[in-house]
Amino acid sequence: MNVTSTQPARILVGVSGGIAAYKAVALVRRLVEAGCEVRVVMTEAATRFVTPLSFQAVSGHPVRTTLLDAEAESGMDHIALARWSDAVVVAPASADLMARLANGLADDLLTTLCLATSAPVHLAPTMNRQMWAHPATQANRARLVEHGVTLLGPAAGAQACGETGEGRMLEPEAIVAALLVGARQDLAGRHVVVTAGGTREPIDPVRFIANRSSGRMGFALAAEAVRRGAAVTLIAGPSALPTPTGVERVDVETARQMQAAVESIASMDIFVGAAAVADYRVAAPADRKLKKSGETLSLELVPNPDIIREVASRTDRPFVIGFAAETDHLREHAAAKREAKGMDLICANEVGADKGFDRPDNALLLLWGDGERELPQADKRHLAGEIFDTYHQITQD
Ligand code: C5P
Repeated sequence: MNVTSTQPARILVGVSGGIAAYKAVALVRRLVEAGCEVRVVMTEAATRFVTPLSFQAVSGHPVRTTLLDAEAESGMDHIALARWSDAVVVAPASADLMARLANGLADDLLTTLCLATSAPVHLAPTMNRQMWAHPATQANRARLVEHGVTLLGPAAGAQACGETGEGRMLEPEAIVAALLVGARQDLAGRHVVVTAGGTREPIDPVRFIANRSSGRMGFALAAEAVRRGAAVTLIAGPSALPTPTGVERVDVETARQMQAAVESIASMDIFVGAAAVADYRVAAPADRKLKKSGETLSLELVPNPDIIREVASRTDRPFVIGFAAETDHLREHAAAKREAKGMDLICANEVGADKGFDRPDNALLLLWGDGERELPQADKRHLAGEIFDTYHQITQD
């Protein structure tokens, strides 16, 4: 779906019962902001969590809750509403709603609409992790996918019930991105962590050691992962680039701050180390601005922690993707770096005058256990897609 077309996209948002129903208010708001026309249908259970009035306020239209509403039927009946939609998205989609839809039940307005529409139907499953993992729910999920329904998420993380695991509703921004771009949801339900940009290592309060990394590759990877349905955390060194929609961004300055931010994330499925992390930092940065003395100034540098190596040596390690910028012997140096740091996939590029850093495009050589792929000069956004395609090729999922 393309919202830049002359017709605004018409999106029917279905809300089923669950604490995450409050997040659907933000979803409707984001869709309206993105230029969509939105109508909301709630299940009876959803109205116990959030009032229809909230959705009416953000969508600008009355909310439908019942199948047989004499007043509404004279305006837009359920069949007209089903025909009106360019896309249907149910968020949150409870275990009960999934079960009813998987079995073709049409016992309320929302399930009736899902059966009556020819528009694509998307569900954002949201429930306690045990309920999501239950074989009955998994069977319903498989059946719904067979029927052509697209699942957005769920994401993993802390849950309202106090547990941690898979079952969180995808963030509204990620749902909007998935709906409006219509990308393959081949990273749905995964947590992707990306480091991006260069780090700044202070010399004194006003000076620092930095590098020429712009952050473009990492930001493009984060945006692409969201487009494919992942929950994405972007840990970024100083960068003027805008945060891609749907990405959770953590800003850091130094390598050690980046390390701490990565360390604080307990569970991740894919880690992408796209940051140009400074190999060294000043051992003892001065508290006050250093004065010019006319004499030679020596700075003692000490090695920084290797973030990607630490992630790759976790016991519950994610799939690890790293980068190598080399001026010579690209293949040999990159292959050795992949081994030494324990990466699953390394993306190597030549750097030098006019190559690699601070440019919108690049050429990459991808190396993994038993394969390699050359990606000719292309926009970094395009390369990001190729990198995740290669990840699927390697993991065969
Ligand atoms: O050793 P080198 O800096 O060339 O390795 C590059 C790769 O290692 C990149 O993926 C980069 O993000 C990662 N790296 C890291 N922590 C460091 C240095 C590099 O995560 N201290």
